[in-house]
Amino acid sequence: MKKLDQEQKIDLVKIASEVRKWAYTPYSHYQVGAAVLTDSDRIYDGVNIENAAFPVTICAERTAIFKAVSNGETKFQAIAVVTKDGGMPCGSCRQVMVEFSPEMLVIVANENGKIIAEKKLSDLLPGAFGAVSLE
Ligand code: THU
Repeated sequence: MKKLDQEQKIDLVKIASEVRKWAYTPYSHYQVGAAVLTDSDRIYDGVNIENAAFPVTICAERTAIFKAVSNGETKFQAIAVVTKDGGMPCGSCRQVMVEFSPEMLVIVANENGKIIAEKKLSDLLPGAFGAVSLE
């Protein structure tokens, strides 16, 4: 995996922050924006999309990852996630990301663009269930 420079990280955070306004959150009012950088250096963004049937809600991280995968991208360098307070990605999103790129970088920032956490995904979901278990 290529090492991300500071400029790329700031760029990802900026994009995640910009799309946050499109979050559909009539129930929680907790807006989340995400931007994922593929190995091919493309960026896909995403927001959380809530539903009156609450469990149907999808997180911003999964929206971004699924947009990328549905465009043929399955390897990721990093994802930036922006919320008002720098909340961490949920377990379901960690599991979805692990499927594709366990070593990707997860950058978490608050609404001021301040990076609150920067971790390798494998440190956020150690001992993850993966494809090897199904061999
Ligand atoms: N949410 C995300 O978008 N990503 C996460 O990793 C955690 C939670 C969303 C789901 C829901 O719309 C709102 O935040 C409150 O849970």
